[in-house]
Amino acid sequence: MGISPKDELAQLAEEAARCVRCPLYRDATQVVFGEGPAGAKIMMIGEQPGDQEDRAGRPFVGAAGRVLDQALNEAGLQRSAIYITNAVKHFKHEVRGKRRLHKHPNRYEIGQCRWWLEREFAAIDPVFIVALGAIAASVLMGRPITLANARGRLLRWRDGRAGFATIHPSAVLRMPDDLSRARAFESLSKDLRRALSLAKSLTSGSG
Ligand code: URA
Repeated sequence: MGISPKDELAQLAEEAARCVRCPLYRDATQVVFGEGPAGAKIMMIGEQPGDQEDRAGRPFVGAAGRVLDQALNEAGLQRSAIYITNAVKHFKHEVRGKRRLHKHPNRYEIGQCRWWLEREFAAIDPVFIVALGAIAASVLMGRPITLANARGRLLRWRDGRAGFATIHPSAVLRMPDDLSRARAFESLSKDLRRALSLAKSLTSGSG
């Protein structure tokens, strides 16, 4: 008998904790592997862990994670039913004084980390994959894409799986004032509601 998806994920997370496939492990506290049920039908992909995720060892637990949780709530999606992970699993940053500032991963780092993402896909076999932000969407599409083109509609990722792209929750936090923050938040939760409805239409009847 083969290994169960749950055990496979646990084994993967253990292996990933020792990952040296790119240099990012050197300055990160720990690997931040995906989190959620092995039987999840919906998977969500961010870019990479931030400062707080790096310390906690869990994805989306910092400020962007709180925005995501709130938007998921408003959209009627339960975080506990979704598998959430990142395209890159170590925190890339530069130290400025006492702060650790996020830096975008480069193509090499993304390519090396894809190895783990592919294994998460294989273990979970999600029906629907939501990309949070253009970097995750480009990783899933296998080529650079912009949210202006891809956002808000049913997509087919490079591997043929169905999906959806929306803004990264940190885009809400970067808005310059309350009004634009509220609008960006509304658009994120509206997108997630739409993603849920598309995912439901694809998963109904699939058990
Ligand atoms: N941003 C991400 O893309 N992922 C996280 O886990 C946290 C912040």
